[in-house]
Amino acid sequence: MPADIPVITVDGPSGTGKGTLSSYLANWLQWHFLDSGALYRVLALAAERHSINYEDVSGLAELARDLDVVFKHSASEEGKAVILEGTEVSVLIRTESCGTAASRIASLPEVRQALLDRQHSFRKPPGLVADGRDMGTVVFPAARLKIFLTASVEERARRRYKQLKEKGFDVNLPQLSVEITERDVRDSQRTVSPLRPAVDAAVIDTTHLNIEDVIDRVAVLVRDRFPDITGKTGRNN
Ligand code: C5P
Repeated sequence: MPADIPVITVDGPSGTGKGTLSSYLANWLQWHFLDSGALYRVLALAAERHSINYEDVSGLAELARDLDVVFKHSASEEGKAVILEGTEVSVLIRTESCGTAASRIASLPEVRQALLDRQHSFRKPPGLVADGRDMGTVVFPAARLKIFLTASVEERARRRYKQLKEKGFDVNLPQLSVEITERDVRDSQRTVSPLRPAVDAAVIDTTHLNIEDVIDRVAVLVRDRFPDITGKTGRNN
């Protein structure tokens, strides 16, 4: 039964360390990994390629349902390759403009609904780590452990700037800060699945924490909620 397969959700805005934490957890536990933001990003790219505009809600929902996207393990730094209609788009979807397009598309209830089954299909044994905005509130509301990461806008913009620079993108910090703030407002104020912590989520402010500190704190929660995996591995072992 899928309902018996354990899930850990990691939600929060971009630049909080969500992606790094989720990949770490999936790797540590040897569980499956859902990067739901990548799904919205790929959908935005596919809509552009198929010239489907944001007013064509049913066209977008249909595209979302039928989207030919595959997530593969790869030797890249991110550890996963995103393949859209047979072509690798892993780097292309990481631009801030693709993030903004994803956030616009993600505000459409029909699109969110159309991606639900696909997101649920990632829940396979032995477990799933799901990274996004509404993993703990809407997609996997019964998850046994829910984490919500926050950080100041300034710190998140600095982290995204560094990440994008390292990937070779030409970025500008003040501009990035504005785009992140706009994306936060859109994601938090939309009517469906707004970005907010689940009532039972552990909220961690990562502004003054490095990723190792965040992992250590979360590892304590993982061991507490999943005593059967205690001692297998993890940073403090
Ligand atoms: O996490 P990432 O920055 O890749 O997500 C891109 C955009 O996709 C977010 O700004 C958000 O609007 C949307 N998203 C969402 N729900 C999710 C994951 C991402 O609405 N579960």
